[in-house]
Amino acid sequence: MLAPTGELVAAAHAGGGAVGAFNVITIEHAEAIVAGAEAAGLPVILQISENAVRFHHDRLAPIAAAARAIAASAGVPVGLHLDHVESDELLGQAAANGFGSVMYDASRLAYADNVAATASAVRRCHAAGLWVESELGEIGGKGGAHAKGARTDPAEAAAYVATTGVDALAVAVGSSHAMTTRSARLDHELIARLAAAVPVPLVLHGSSGVPDDELTAAVRGGMAKINIGTALNTAFTGTVRATLGEQPDLVDPRRYLSSARSAMAETVSSALRVLKAGVIT
Ligand code: G3H
Ligand code: ZN
Repeated sequence: MLAPTGELVAAAHAGGGAVGAFNVITIEHAEAIVAGAEAAGLPVILQISENAVRFHHDRLAPIAAAARAIAASAGVPVGLHLDHVESDELLGQAAANGFGSVMYDASRLAYADNVAATASAVRRCHAAGLWVESELGEIGGKGGAHAKGARTDPAEAAAYVATTGVDALAVAVGSSHAMTTRSARLDHELIARLAAAVPVPLVLHGSSGVPDDELTAAVRGGMAKINIGTALNTAFTGTVRATLGEQPDLVDPRRYLSSARSAMAETVSSALRVLKAGVIT
């Protein structure tokens, strides 16, 4: 069933755990993410990025409607989140398309401009009933104002949250977007300092490159929303490549997409189980 993202993250945060948030590009992604969450028996967040909307010819409505319908019939709570939004126009479409939350991304801007743009976006989004995440200290891999390897300063993060009114904060602690190897090392001492200084849930982006034991430790340290995208595409594309390699005459996409979708579902369920292992009972 559809559930408000803010409630899922708050419940996980209060229980010392984290919610897995996975990026949707195609309908198969949404189906796989929900199937993986059902297999693990855990809530999940479907997130559609601005880049994914661009892929769908700049049209949010069709992929959002598909994700919403898949979420609505799920056997576990599913949040619907619009991810890495830089466009004010797209931000304005979130509530009408069924999203419970957005990540407004002004991380490429200098600090003062990030604060001003985010505070304004938060006012608009809260008026529309949306829960808002934003980012401070760009997580490497996209270019922009912050160099790769940037770290979020705890005192600056606390001031940023107080000034902007965001509901959750993505922080730079050593992960990097779009990694296809799981070799990132997180700064756990910094995670602990951020968790102590920042009064809202913390979000880890670029989690595909983070090994299981590091993810478990990050959850124990206070990360409440864990974003995973590339790992699904690695599973999906690898399975398509292998299937077509074994069966070069195959033309029906259902024959290779179904095994690729299953591989993504398996990736989701195992990641959710790793996050659950981070909960201290
Ligand atoms: O917002 C989405 C994520 O940060 C996903 O990052 O593709 O590196 O796992 P990833
Ligand atoms: Zn991200």
